[in-house]
Amino acid sequence: MTDVQGIVTKMTLEEKAALCTGASSWTTTPVDRLGLPELLVSDGPHGIRRLPDVHALSWKSLPATCFPTASGLAATWDVDLLYEMGQALAKEAIALNVDVVLGPGVNMKRTPLCGRNFEYFSEDPYLAGELAAGLINGIQSKGVGTSLKHFAANNQEFERHSISAEIDERALREIYLPAFETAVTKAKPWTVMCSYNKVNGTYASEHHRLLTDILKDEWGFDGFVVSDWGAVHDRVAALQAGLDLEMPGPKQTRVNAVIEAVRNGELDEAVLDEAARRIVRIALLAAQTPKGSNSSIGDKFDAAAHHALARKIAAEGMVLLKNNGLLPLQNPQHIAVIGRAAQKAHFQGGGSSHINPTQVDVPFSEVQKLAGNAELSFVAGYPEDNCFEQTLIDEAVATAQAADVALLFIALPTFKESEGHDRPDLDLTEQQVRLIQAVTAVQPNTVVILNNGAPVVVHGWIDGTAAVLEAWMMGQAGGGAIADVLFGRVNPCGKLAETYPVKLADTPAHLNFPGENGVVHYGEGLFIGYRYYDAREVPVQFPFGYGLSYTTFAYSNPQVSAATFKDVEGVTVSVDVTNTGQVTGKEIVQVYVHDEEARLVRPYKELKGFAKVDLQPGETKTVAIPLDFRAFAYYDPAHRQWVTEDGQFNILIGASAADIRSCVTVTLQSTLQLPSVLHRESTIRAWLEDPRGKKTFEPMYRQLMAQMSRAFSGDDDNGNEVIGMDSSGFMLDMPLLSILHFQEDALTQPADDIVDLLLAQVHGAVG
Ligand code: BGC
Repeated sequence: MTDVQGIVTKMTLEEKAALCTGASSWTTTPVDRLGLPELLVSDGPHGIRRLPDVHALSWKSLPATCFPTASGLAATWDVDLLYEMGQALAKEAIALNVDVVLGPGVNMKRTPLCGRNFEYFSEDPYLAGELAAGLINGIQSKGVGTSLKHFAANNQEFERHSISAEIDERALREIYLPAFETAVTKAKPWTVMCSYNKVNGTYASEHHRLLTDILKDEWGFDGFVVSDWGAVHDRVAALQAGLDLEMPGPKQTRVNAVIEAVRNGELDEAVLDEAARRIVRIALLAAQTPKGSNSSIGDKFDAAAHHALARKIAAEGMVLLKNNGLLPLQNPQHIAVIGRAAQKAHFQGGGSSHINPTQVDVPFSEVQKLAGNAELSFVAGYPEDNCFEQTLIDEAVATAQAADVALLFIALPTFKESEGHDRPDLDLTEQQVRLIQAVTAVQPNTVVILNNGAPVVVHGWIDGTAAVLEAWMMGQAGGGAIADVLFGRVNPCGKLAETYPVKLADTPAHLNFPGENGVVHYGEGLFIGYRYYDAREVPVQFPFGYGLSYTTFAYSNPQVSAATFKDVEGVTVSVDVTNTGQVTGKEIVQVYVHDEEARLVRPYKELKGFAKVDLQPGETKTVAIPLDFRAFAYYDPAHRQWVTEDGQFNILIGASAADIRSCVTVTLQSTLQLPSVLHRESTIRAWLEDPRGKKTFEPMYRQLMAQMSRAFSGDDDNGNEVIGMDSSGFMLDMPLLSILHFQEDALTQPADDIVDLLLAQVHGAVG
């Protein structure tokens, strides 16, 4: 590759400043005299949104395959399939002259109300990270870059340009950052996009700790950081924090500000050089893959093959939520197809990820193709807007009554779910709920097919249905995929990557969302998704990891590679899975880790591994899942690092978060030699819990206990205990120093000196 540093060295201050700001909405600034080409980026990530003119303000992009959005992708739990989709995306990017695809997004689903959840994978950081890594690796394997977004804590649309997400260090490290970390370390995205919001008071675009200390230094990210479109406020502060490229451009005022800051000494030119070096490296890397008519595939991609892949992925991600046995359909003769979305597929969400599809499967037509000689009737059932129209319901009831089966296509309208605004509630429209209730009252064989990007409340209408299929925003081929699942051409195998709550008030962030006065407190800390429902014992509608199949699976013979193991070596858990039903099917095996005892509070269980296995009827396969150091560690802010503790862990093997089939107990030996974090204000409890502290302090503790019990023993004049208390319990939460202060007169040395001496011994200063 061309000498990156050589180019940067030859660049003038003006050229470097210009390179760090976009030349247009979608391109970087080329430096022709040095042979540095422009870099062209396009939105994604479930398709390529290549705008024909990178300078014009327009929305209509060139035709590209619209794959399912991230909610549906995540429900596949299939890293290899996402890799394959990534390869297809890259081919389209190459044909459409795109160097970098802006995605995927790995923000956590803190609340189902986030309007953009359809673009994100999961409420679980492990799952989101693995899937994102698969997609990125697929795209980048073909020489096209990605932009992992939105870094970080962009978990709501409400005031997304300015709100400050107030997150404690543990929640940041254990929940909001790991999906980014996994994607960065396992897939090396070419770029990372910072988010609009503030994190603990500082704009993400100016967050040195996030962009430089953590992303670049700790995780070794070697690409460039790009701003979300319009996320930069102070260009110089952003550069200093590690924000390399500001988008969109052109913005001469920003370029001038950078030049001026270097000239007046406010900005060290080395900082600008580093940003330029990162951008130059990626621009040259991108240029190694010829695009458009210069590429080996030319400016066309195989639209039919990609449509077929989109259909396969859509089907793989659909989640069968309920089935009383009606599905797969067995030769119904008269099918009532109800719902506007059967004719006008609802297959993607609104906003920057909106794709101009190459073709769109119409669900009605796809059902018709697989329905043999059955007669199909269609009625719209609900209007496009939020109006209530009883006549549409009456019409649907009459149609359903005359049929053997009713297929109800219910799509959550865009005014209820889109980029740019959060959802007001988790409900379908009133018309949709009343429609389902009315149709199921006359037709017990009713299947509801949902198109939405995030959970909806179902408890008001689900009881009367025979089956419910969550089809998500299923991409352009989703209509065909729905037909495949309904008629059993595909056995559903998707599982939820997010919990379906019973009602909005049950959700983890309910009391801390969406924030006020510019601040949103992540008061639930680590406890989002199933971590919250587990801890609070809140019943859910459908648990994380849940999904039905047309077959059944049995789990047996759980094993671990070692009953006792060192944290750095990890352990492998395996289990036999048998298809005990009549049809071929795929099962997603999930491994959760439960820590029996820890110094800090931990979620009851956390997903740390999964595997998808394809089984013929009667077939058994052994699934082996490795668990590494991080599967057992928690982030300890006191030590500023990931920590393991000696002790027992339960490894829970399940078909969902609520359907644990086996449990194996293992013993972990920590290899960490952590320095003590005892300090002057440490309590007696902290001294006793700290291994070195306990050893040093124990003789004094025994003495103190003896004194305390002498002081507090005996009866009062009425024969009652002097103080109705347990002196050791009383002392536990008092700082050692405070207790010594009480007795200062009886001490030979000042209390402060005694504690300092003990601390010196514990911290190794005194032998
Ligand atoms: C969105 C990004 C998107 C960018 C460019 C922003 O408003 O948040 O996800 O990549 O626009 O369209």
